[in-house]
Amino acid sequence: NRNVGIIGTGSFLPAKTITNKDLETLVDTTDEWIRSRTGIEERRMVEESVAASDLGVEAAKKALEDANISAEEIDLIIVATLTPDYTFPSTACIVQEKLGAKKAAAFDLSAACSGFIYGLATGAQFIATGLYKYVLVIGSETISKILNWEDRGTCVLFGDGAGACVLGPVEDGKGFQSFVLGSDGSGAELLSQPSSGSKLPITSETIANKENTLKMVGSEVFKFAVRVMGQVSEEAVEKAGLNKEDIDFFVPHQANIRIIEPAMKRLGLGMDKAYINLHKYGNMSSASIPVALDEALQSGSIKKGDNVLLVGFGAGLTWGATVVKM
Ligand code: ACO
Repeated sequence: NRNVGIIGTGSFLPAKTITNKDLETLVDTTDEWIRSRTGIEERRMVEESVAASDLGVEAAKKALEDANISAEEIDLIIVATLTPDYTFPSTACIVQEKLGAKKAAAFDLSAACSGFIYGLATGAQFIATGLYKYVLVIGSETISKILNWEDRGTCVLFGDGAGACVLGPVEDGKGFQSFVLGSDGSGAELLSQPSSGSKLPITSETIANKENTLKMVGSEVFKFAVRVMGQVSEEAVEKAGLNKEDIDFFVPHQANIRIIEPAMKRLGLGMDKAYINLHKYGNMSSASIPVALDEALQSGSIKKGDNVLLVGFGAGLTWGATVVKM
């Protein structure tokens, strides 16, 4: 098997910013409540005409430039998203055309906020086996379009954005050291978009009832998230044959600062070892981890040779983690 690693990253955020103060005018909430309960201060939001593929393409262009390869060299495009352009065709096919990735296969992957980790694990297998050389993994979300802007329990938490990584062969000792993926469908209804597919097709009635928007049992998802983030982090470190002390940097899913802090404690890492951008962008689901990873690399928080732990959790329920040596 070939060693596989991340050879380029990129991210893209829409310009429009929605602050907590802005939300005070929409729902019964306060800047103080949102900050103290989540850590979120503002988030980005796309214009009406912008789709997940548009954000994804911009992030992908930067990742290709960073990897110094052309779109024509990409063998496979995986787009992780819970807000695809369409149910079908896949957002990955729209991205394939927009990038001019002529020889690429393309598909979408549905694992909500764990989607990017699932995408890395999936893409890496094609390269490890020698079937493909370069795989583009994108996490792109326009969550603002599926929110219920009358539900203060959810509309304050999420934001729009996209991040991308190019995966490719890397030298011995580098790249992905472990993957841990998991699911528990018994929690499917804790976080979902009830009227969005074949189970409860979108009708004027489901729209009137707001069943076509994101629904969440926040307190249950919170308990699950705190438990799973620490647990899966430990598993990924152990599977990589490493100790907690060997982890140089942590890039967690950015849902809530109160979910990340206990995980850092359990890992015995100081908060300065975690990249946090949820105060600027909120929870961008599949885009949170790749945007944070790109920013951490650009800012020099992550250096060449660092062991980086990436951990996600989300709807499904799903979870995933990887240790990657940069
Ligand atoms: N402003 C003011 N009050 C609010 C707001 C708000 N924006 N939202 C909820 N409240 C109220 C509730 O109505 C409740 O009031 P009540 O006691 O009168 O009923 C009170 O605050 C406490 O609500 P809780 O849900 O217990 O508050 P908690 O401290 O748990 O924080 C939160 C809520 C932030 C949603 C938290 O539960 C959380 O972060 N959950 C995890 C969410 C998450 O990570 N989801 C994404 C998973 S990833 C994916 O796949 C998309």
